[in-house]
Amino acid sequence: MLDAGCGLGDGLLALRQAYPLGEWHGLEWSRPLRWLCARRCPWARVERGDIWQADWGAYPLVYLFQRPESMPRAWTKACTDMAPGSYLVSLEFPVPGVTAQARMPTPGGRTVWVYRIQPNQPTGH
Ligand SMILES: C[S@@+](CC[C@H](N)C(=O)[O-])C[C@H]1O[C@@H](n2cnc3c(N)ncnc32)[C@H](O)[C@@H]1O
Repeated sequence: MLDAGCGLGDGLLALRQAYPLGEWHGLEWSRPLRWLCARRCPWARVERGDIWQADWGAYPLVYLFQRPESMPRAWTKACTDMAPGSYLVSLEFPVPGVTAQARMPTPGGRTVWVYRIQPNQPTGH
């Protein structure tokens, strides 16, 4: 599973707590953040790169915590790259105009939005 824009690794740490047997990858544009994340998450493969240039197709789940205005682009990319049945999971920001499969509150008071990629999913954007 991929944390697209993994920052310092807080998302990866939380996800691993939930799914300890998962295989975790992180992608981060900032060199210092990538380095720090790799130190904090030695069990993850953390690489420097652009989430929009990466291929999300190998992942059954892509998690991201980006910006509200990034969500239409993230949805289009998920529908293009990812296989039917896989999941796009967003902390805090929903995909405008797309019905989430689930929304869950976090202990910190944020919302996690879960979207499942369907066959021939229209991107809507
Ligand atoms: C709000 S932080 C989220 C960190 C982590 N995913 C979490 O949930 O704790 C967003 C991160 O995305 C990174 N980012 C933004 N645009 C990116 C891009 N195009 N490619 C790679 N990383 C990017 C930023 O540098 C930042 O570290």
